[in-house]
Amino acid sequence: MTHELPPSDLRDRLAGDLADARARTLLLTDHDEPELLRQHSSLLSPLVWDLAHIGQQEDLWLLRSGDPRRAGLLPADVEALYDAFTHPRAGRAKLPLLPPVEARGFCSEVRGRVLDRLDCLGDEDDPFDFAMVVSHEQQHDETMLQALNLRTGPPLLGAGSSLPPGRSGVAGTSVLVPGGSFVLGVDSADEPFSLDNERPAHQVDVPAFRIGRVPVTNAEYARFVADGGYAQPRWWSKRGWRHRTEAGLERPQFWGPDGTRTRFGVVEELPPDEPVQHVTFFEAEAYAAWAGARLPTEVEWEKAAVWDPAAGHRRRFPWGAAEPVESLANLGGAALRPAPVGAYPAGASAYGVEQLIGDVWEWTSSPFAPWPGFRPMLYADYSAPFFGGDYRVLRGGAWSVAPSIIRPSFRNWDHPIRRQVFSGFRLAWDA
Ligand SMILES: [Fe+2]
Repeated sequence: MTHELPPSDLRDRLAGDLADARARTLLLTDHDEPELLRQHSSLLSPLVWDLAHIGQQEDLWLLRSGDPRRAGLLPADVEALYDAFTHPRAGRAKLPLLPPVEARGFCSEVRGRVLDRLDCLGDEDDPFDFAMVVSHEQQHDETMLQALNLRTGPPLLGAGSSLPPGRSGVAGTSVLVPGGSFVLGVDSADEPFSLDNERPAHQVDVPAFRIGRVPVTNAEYARFVADGGYAQPRWWSKRGWRHRTEAGLERPQFWGPDGTRTRFGVVEELPPDEPVQHVTFFEAEAYAAWAGARLPTEVEWEKAAVWDPAAGHRRRFPWGAAEPVESLANLGGAALRPAPVGAYPAGASAYGVEQLIGDVWEWTSSPFAPWPGFRPMLYADYSAPFFGGDYRVLRGGAWSVAPSIIRPSFRNWDHPIRRQVFSGFRLAWDA
């Protein structure tokens, strides 16, 4: 486990994580200048904004301890362009942004100084800020993938790397999670790189429930569409139906009316056994109602993922203590798609629930709220301004998420109408 690493190994691990994040950022921004300046959707930034923002945040948190009054490597008026709170995404393409070559130079200068600081890190120093910055860069790499998926034109990224085959007979099945208490959330002593909203660990009693062994597939979701699910308000919440009508939703985003889908510019037959992607929370909720089920709460999701009832403690990952590797979960972004259901039997949790980590972000029914005893971290505005807002929590990470930043306790949140996210869901039932 991370906290058991001696300081020099911890420094090596963080240097490796920083290098992996940067390699991915540079790969995703290895396009010509017009491409990087293009804005593909009002929901997402032009890639050149993400690029310099990654460097700006690294400069702020790792070279200035998060104090914006201290001068950074960029002039103050330029740095201000990369403040995510003052410049909404829709307007970022019109800002006088650094050209790509300058943005890359800036990022690399910051990184050089950051690595010098990492080298000098003493045994008593807390390296959390480095892990936080790795997480920030990797999260922006994922939003860049969302932007590239919304891009029109010939494919830029290819069709993705190969994935293990699925198993038949797992779609539509469920497992029972007996009632009883478990430990929800984590403490920094066990997960030093956990973010503020994952903490602290605390006991929660959870009544018995059933949960889908795997996420809902394209074939299952297509039956809801074919059954007129998008034409019948009875399956939808009031708000969900209003949004469905106003936005004209008829099927998941990127699905054609002819059984095809478009993925990173590639048009292909809809793979029946892959988890459905690009649905809003409202669509997930409507499908669940049609199927005689509901969405899991995030607490149920986490219990199904980590609790080992025989041992009476949490597992670090659903499958145990091992770090996520290719044989256990589809992460890291190279696949450009989720794996078919049943592809990772070795990644099952103690209860037999599969593909909790990787493949698709899973909508839960839970609004985003702090755990009791919440304390903001160094980046105090990461979680707290969003608690109680119009969000639902997503769990587990998608194929697009870096293995170094995902944990079963990781909480993502988004508006219930969003679906450019690599979002799917699994079902749950009262037992
Ligand atoms: Fe950011």
